[in-house]
Order: sequence, then structure tokens, then C-alpha cells
Amino acid sequence: MSDNGVNTSRRRFLVAATSVVGAAGAVGVATPFVKSWNPSAKAKAAGAPVKVNVSKLQPGQQVVYEWRGKPVFVVRRTPEMLATLKTQDDRLRDPLSEKSTQPEYAKNPARALKDEYLVLLGICTHLGCSPKFMPEVKPMEFDAKWQGGYFCPCHGSRFDLAGRVYQGVPAPTNLEIPPYVFETNDILIIGSEGTA
Ligand code: FES
Repeated sequence: MSDNGVNTSRRRFLVAATSVVGAAGAVGVATPFVKSWNPSAKAKAAGAPVKVNVSKLQPGQQVVYEWRGKPVFVVRRTPEMLATLKTQDDRLRDPLSEKSTQPEYAKNPARALKDEYLVLLGICTHLGCSPKFMPEVKPMEFDAKWQGGYFCPCHGSRFDLAGRVYQGVPAPTNLEIPPYVFETNDILIIGSEGTA
């Protein structure tokens, strides 16, 4: 009886001790879970706006940046490139960008805040390949009247130098334009909601 009494007390103590350890363990497990709701520095960096000094781009040059894991094309368009945009409307599917995705401030013929700088998501609106920048004005195998623009190698979609899609190709809409703003004359911020 007395042995039993000791054993019972000891058992109770062990159960209580185990419960305390269990509770402490639960806190230890819970902490990383709570932390997982807070974005890591890496995740914050991946979603952060991207700063570009556009004065470093040569006229006619395209540079590709990464924003939120997606390619963003930035092109410094020459007056000649901009002139081609006025000649293609009757060959385009959505020349006024009415059915396409862009910020309101880029819903104009040049699809830009400043005509000189084109900013596009480099993802084909058909099935997501990355279109190739082909700025030369010359007859191409895929278009005898090519005025420069983008050609998607996956299924042959074509876009002009404002990312507007041509008729008769699989891509349904113009290339998307991400939000952006000019912080100064030369500093472009991709991924920042601009209102200018
Ligand atoms: S993914 Fe570009 S044409 Fe199909």
C-alpha cells in the first residue's frame, strides 16, 4: 500500500513533468509557425520595387530587369521607333489597349508615362513564353512588313514596339505593363504605383 502510494505519487510527478516538457515543446514548435507569417528579408526583397537609372540606356537599347520573379523589359525608344507606332493600327488586335492590362497612365498610343521609355512585362499573353526583342525594321520570315517589335518563339505571336499584339496570332492581348513611376527625370521605379 505504502509502496503503491509512493509509486502513485512518483507516477503523478512524472506525468506532470512530462506535461510541462510537452507544453514547452509546443511553444518551441509554435514559434517558427508564427514566424512563417512574417515575410523574410529575401521575400521582401523579391517583391520590392526595382530602381532603374534610365539615362544609362543607349537609344534603341533594351535592358531586362527582374521584378517579383518576372522579366521586365525597359526600352529607350528612338524617335524612329516611336514613329513606327503610328503606322500599324490597322494590323493590330487592340491598338488602343482597351482589352489589355496596363495602368491607366499607360493607356495611350505609346503605352507609356514618357514616350521615350517603354516598360513591359516580358511574358507572352498567350502561354507565358518570353518574347524576343527584334527592333530592326526589315522583312522577316514571319512578317514581310516587320516594323520592329517582339516575336514570341513558342507559337509565333508578334507585338509592336509598344507591346501591342498583331492580328492573326495566338496571343489574345497586348503585353502587360506593370505599375511604375519616375522618381526623378532619370530614375524609374518598377513596381511602385505611380499617379503621374
Ligand atoms: S506563348 Fe507566345 S505565342 Fe504562345
